[in-house]
Amino acid sequence: MQIAVFGAGYVGLVQAVGLAELDHEVFLVDIDEAKVEALQGGSVPFYEPGLEDALKSYIASGALRIETSLDRNPELAFVCVQTPQLGDGSCNIAAVKSVLASAHLPELVVIKSTLPPTEFRVLEVESNCELAMNPEFLREGTAFDDFLNPDRIVLGVRTPEAEQVLCSVYEKLEAPKLVMSPESASLTKYAANTMLASRLSLINEIANIAEVVGADMDAVREGLGSDPRIGRQFLRSGAGFGGSCFPKDVLALATSAHASGYDSKLIRPVIEVNEEQAGRFVAKIEQELGGVNGKRIAVWGLAFNKNTDDIRESPAMRAVKLLLAKGVFLSVYDPEAMQNARAELGSDVHYAADVLEACDDADALAALTEWDEFKEVEWPRVAVRMKGGFVFDGKSFLDRASVERSGLKYAGVGVCD
Ligand code: UDX
Repeated sequence: MQIAVFGAGYVGLVQAVGLAELDHEVFLVDIDEAKVEALQGGSVPFYEPGLEDALKSYIASGALRIETSLDRNPELAFVCVQTPQLGDGSCNIAAVKSVLASAHLPELVVIKSTLPPTEFRVLEVESNCELAMNPEFLREGTAFDDFLNPDRIVLGVRTPEAEQVLCSVYEKLEAPKLVMSPESASLTKYAANTMLASRLSLINEIANIAEVVGADMDAVREGLGSDPRIGRQFLRSGAGFGGSCFPKDVLALATSAHASGYDSKLIRPVIEVNEEQAGRFVAKIEQELGGVNGKRIAVWGLAFNKNTDDIRESPAMRAVKLLLAKGVFLSVYDPEAMQNARAELGSDVHYAADVLEACDDADALAALTEWDEFKEVEWPRVAVRMKGGFVFDGKSFLDRASVERSGLKYAGVGVCD
């Protein structure tokens, strides 16, 4: 099928390359000339495993073309442009509206951008095309693999014809195709992110309680995760969650519900708990070290998640800024996010060449992104480089026993010696 994809950001690029992999002929359209030029040259402007090689190969085969405007009539279009947060927490759909006003649109246009059910209906009333909703559930760092191996494909459609077209687009993917109304599809996306984010804020609150009542969060996590109704995923407590989706989508759901006449009691506190969590992590470091002014702290991880260079809403960046404000000398290292961090932190921190150099003479180490490289480090080699003995785990991902065997003291959120 000939398919246009509007928006060459994170979602659109993965969608376009993924559709090419499913043997479609794809036209990726973005109004940013510099971005289009870079992509035409095979260069992906962010770090996402597997994506750049696939992009290059589909450009070379001619299956994927990248342009600044659409000059032909495709059979189907996906809209993947940004829907940023407005000051009141609602979702700005101006970019989607502008795509829907462009020339050469097909009869069926599929919205992939995250937007609430009410906004979908606004677009539907204004558009000359039939609209459908097909939310994405991609995790940064595994996005291309998530596209090719999804748990489910949610198709929000108004007509059997739209259902048939979308089912055939994704025919090669084995995942169950869940057909529903566009409103339900949109709410499914918000519900999934809000459910996961709530789980993280709840587990962080339980970890905070563990600290004040003298319980051990590692043991509690094991006890909780053993219940199959609860499961083991998304139980790691720490300095909070981040990224471009969770904070924005959780707030947008509460705001959109309020605008439609429902005041949620549970949703907003999910964000409030998260916003305080990095501060609690820093307070813990302060308490254990007996003050941090003038101390030297190594920071492992700046990205909001492993396998990405994305620092948007990153708890690591939040903690770094709080520590800087308290007069700490920071030596930071992240395998991919150093360049993005440098744009925000400038020369306020030392950028280390590797995990070990970051630890040289450090009074303490704070690990804030769950990169495998940090998990697999040889702790005795870390211990000899450090001056002090504390390792603060901001994502509950390090092996406590290995840390302690090397003579270092492990402190997680909800876990103390
Ligand atoms: C999320 C959803 O998973 C995805 O389906 C949606 O489309 C976009 O938002 P993403 O934000 O890219 O994806 O990453 P995810 O792996 O979900 O991690 C979110 C945050 O939670 C990260 O900061 C991560 O470190 C944190 N996290 C995750 C924890 O703090 N503890 C955990 O146990 C798991």
